[in-house]
Amino acid sequence: MERMRRFMLVMMCVAAAGALAIAAWVAPSSASGMDQARVKLPSTHFGAENPAAVHGFSQVTGFDQAKVAVNPQAPDATPVGQATCTACHAKENQNFTHTTHALGMNAALAANPATATCEACHGPGSQHAQNPSLEGAIIAFTKDRGTPIKTQTESCLGCHAGGPRDQWLGSIHQRNQLSCSDCHNPMAQLSAEGLEAKQSINETCATCHKDIRQQFNRRSHMPLPEGQMACVDCHNPHGTISASLLKTDTVNETCYQCHAEKRGPFLFEHAPVRENCLNCHTPHGSNQHALLVAPVPMLCQQCHSHTRHPNDMFSEQQLATGMAPDERLMGRGCVTCHAQVHGSNNPAGPRFHK
Ligand code: HEC
Ligand code: HEC
Ligand code: HEC
Ligand code: HEC
Ligand code: HEC
Ligand code: HEC
Ligand code: HEC
Ligand code: HEC
Ligand code: HEC
Ligand code: HEC
Repeated sequence: MERMRRFMLVMMCVAAAGALAIAAWVAPSSASGMDQARVKLPSTHFGAENPAAVHGFSQVTGFDQAKVAVNPQAPDATPVGQATCTACHAKENQNFTHTTHALGMNAALAANPATATCEACHGPGSQHAQNPSLEGAIIAFTKDRGTPIKTQTESCLGCHAGGPRDQWLGSIHQRNQLSCSDCHNPMAQLSAEGLEAKQSINETCATCHKDIRQQFNRRSHMPLPEGQMACVDCHNPHGTISASLLKTDTVNETCYQCHAEKRGPFLFEHAPVRENCLNCHTPHGSNQHALLVAPVPMLCQQCHSHTRHPNDMFSEQQLATGMAPDERLMGRGCVTCHAQVHGSNNPAGPRFHK
C-alpha cells in the first residue's frame, strides 16, 4: 500500500515536471482565450526562455560579455568607448537609453568600464571619431552608408546566432538582402516588444508585404487586424526549413496548432482536408465565407463532378431565383447536408452528413 502510494507520488511528480517543462517551452506566460491559442505555436524566440533545451542554441551572449563588433572595412580602428560616441550623438543616445540593449549595457558598463556598448554593434570607432564622414569607418545600418549587409548582420549574430535564427543564412529574407535593421531598430523603443522598426510586428511586415496585409482586410479573416494575431504566429521571419517561412513542417501542422479539432483522428477522413487545408482555404483573407477560396457549391464541384447528384443545373427553374431552386444552391449549399466536411466520427458518417 505504502509502496503503491509512493509510486503514485513519483509518477505524479514526473507528470507534473513533464507538464511544466512543456509549459515552459511553449508558453512564456500563462494566458487565456485567444492568447492561449497563440502560445501553442513555438514562439519565434523559442530559445530565449531556456536556450539549453533547444538544439544548437547557445545562450544569448550577455551584455557583460559584449565584444567590439568586427568591421572588416576599418581593420586598424580601435575602440573609443561610449562616452566619446555620446559626446557627438547625444540625441541618438537619448532615444537609445530606454531600450533593452541600453538598459543591459549600461548596467554592465557600470560594473566593468571596459565593456563594449555602442561599439558592440557599430564596431571600433576611432577612425570614425576622427573623420565622421569617412564611409565604412563605422558599421552603419542604413542602406547608403557603405557597410555591406553581411557585416551588419554579423554584428548582431555575434550575440544572436542560433535558435530561431538557425536558418537565417539561405533564408528568403537573407537572400533578398534584408538586414536585421529592416525589421529591428535597436536605437529606440518603438514597439512594446521585439525592438521592431515599426509600432508592431504586423506593421513591420506590412512595410514590404502590403499585399498580404491588405488581404487581411477582406470580409473573412483571422483576427490579425484586430491585433489578436501576428504574422509571426505562423511565420518565422528569420528563416525556416519549410516553405513559405512557416514555423511548422507543413501547412496543416500550423493550422492544427490553433484549430486542433480539425486534426482528428477521424473515422471517415476527407482526403483534401488531410492533404492541405489550403485546398479550400486561404490563410490571409477571403471575400468568401470562412476563408474559402471559392464559394460552395463551386468549391466542391471543382473536384466532385460525378456525384450522385449530377453537377449540372438542368433548367432555369433550378437556379436559386427559379420556381424549383436546387438544394445545392440553397442554404449552405452542399454543406447543408454534408455538414462534417472536415471529417466525421459518426458510424453513419462516410458521406460526412453527421
Ligand atoms: C523580416 C523581418 C525580420 C528580420 C529581417 C529580422 N527579424 Fe528578428 N524578429 C522579427 C520579429 C517580427 C520578431 C518578433 C518575434 C516574436 O515575437 O515571436 C523578431 C524577434 C527577434 C529577436 C527577439 C526574440 C528572439 O528571437 O530571441 C531577436 C534577438 C532578433 N529578432 C534578432 C534578429 C537578428 C539578429 C536579425 C538579423 C540576422 C533579425 N532579427 C532579422 C523580425 C525580423
Ligand atoms: C566627432 C563627433 C563624432 C563622434 C565622436 C562619433 N560620431 Fe558618429 N557620426 C558623427 C557625424 C557628424 C555623423 C554623420 C556623418 C555624415 O552624415 O556624413 C556620424 C554618423 C554616424 C553613424 C552613421 C549614421 C547613419 O547614417 O547610418 C553611426 C552609426 C555613428 N555615427 C555611430 C557612432 C559611434 C558608435 C560612435 C562611437 C564609437 C560615434 N559615432 C562617434 C559624429 C561623430
Ligand atoms: C544593439 C545594437 C546597437 C547598439 C548597442 C547601438 N546601436 Fe546605434 N544603431 C543600431 C542599428 C541597427 C541602427 C540602425 C537603425 C535604423 O534602422 O534606423 C543604429 C543607428 C545608429 C545611428 C544612426 C542614426 C539613427 O538613430 O538611426 C547612430 C548615430 C547610432 N546608431 C549611434 C549609436 C550610439 C552612440 C550608441 C551607443 C550609445 C549605439 N548606436 C548603440 C544598432 C545599435
Ligand atoms: C553584446 C551582445 C548583443 C549584440 C551585439 C546585439 N544584441 Fe540584441 N540582445 C542582447 C541581449 C543580451 C538581449 C536580451 C536578452 C534576450 O532578449 O534574449 C538582446 C535583446 C534583443 C532583442 C529583443 C528585445 C526585446 O525587447 O524583446 C532584439 C530584437 C535584439 N536584441 C536585436 C538585436 C539586433 C538587431 C542587433 C544588431 C543590430 C543586436 N540585437 C545586437 C545582446 C546583444
Ligand atoms: C524590407 C522588406 C521586407 C520586410 C520588412 C519583410 N519582408 Fe518578407 N519578404 C521580403 C522579400 C523581398 C521577400 C522575397 C519574396 C518576394 O519578392 O515577395 C519576402 C518573402 C517573404 C515570405 C515568402 C517566403 C517564401 O518562401 O515564399 C514570407 C512568408 C515573408 N516574407 C514573411 C514576412 C514576415 C512575417 C515579415 C514581418 C516579420 C516580413 N516578411 C517582413 C521582404 C520583406
Ligand atoms: C494563420 C497563419 C498565417 C498568418 C497569420 C500569416 N500567414 Fe502568411 N502564409 C501562411 C501560409 C499557410 C502560407 C503558405 C501559402 C502557400 O503555401 O500557398 C503563407 C504564405 C505567405 C507568403 C508567401 C506566399 C504569398 O501568398 O505571397 C507571404 C509573403 C506571407 N505569407 C506573408 C505574411 C504576412 C506579411 C503576414 C502578416 C500580415 C502573414 N503572412 C500572416 C500562413 C499565415
Ligand atoms: C495562432 C492561432 C491560429 C492559427 C495558427 C490558425 N488560425 Fe485560423 N483562426 C484563428 C482564430 C483566433 C480564428 C477566429 C475564431 C473566431 O472568430 O471564433 C480563426 C478562424 C479561422 C477560420 C474561420 C474564419 C471565418 O471567417 O469564419 C478558418 C477557416 C481558419 N481559421 C482557417 C485556418 C487555417 C487554414 C489555418 C492554417 C493555415 C489557420 N486557421 C491557422 C486562429 C488561428
Ligand atoms: C474540402 C474543402 C475544405 C478543406 C480541405 C478544409 N476545409 Fe475548413 N471549411 C470548409 C468549408 C466548406 C467550411 C465552411 C463550413 C460552413 O459553412 O459551415 C469550412 C470551415 C472551416 C472553419 C470555420 C468553421 C469551423 O468548422 O470551425 C475552420 C476553422 C476551418 N474550416 C479550418 C480548416 C482547417 C484547419 C483545415 C485543414 C486541416 C480545413 N479547414 C480544410 C472546407 C474545407
Ligand atoms: C480538392 C478536391 C476536393 C474538394 C475541393 C472537395 N472534395 Fe470531397 N472528396 C475529395 C476526394 C479525393 C474524396 C475521396 C473520394 C473517394 O474516397 O473516392 C472526397 C470525398 C468526399 C465525400 C465522400 C464520398 C464518398 O464516396 O464517400 C463527400 C460527401 C465529399 N467529398 C463532399 C465534399 C463537399 C461537400 C465538398 C465541398 C465543401 C468537397 N467534398 C470538396 C476531393 C475533394
Ligand atoms: C439535400 C442534401 C444534399 C445536398 C444539398 C448535397 N448532397 Fe451530396 N449526398 C447526399 C446524400 C443523402 C448522399 C448519399 C447517397 C448515398 O449514400 O447513397 C450524398 C452523396 C454524395 C457523395 C458521395 C456519392 C457520390 O455520388 O459520389 C458526394 C461526393 C456528394 N454527395 C457530394 C455533394 C456535393 C459536391 C454537393 C453540392 C454540390 C452535395 N453533395 C449536395 C445529400 C446531399
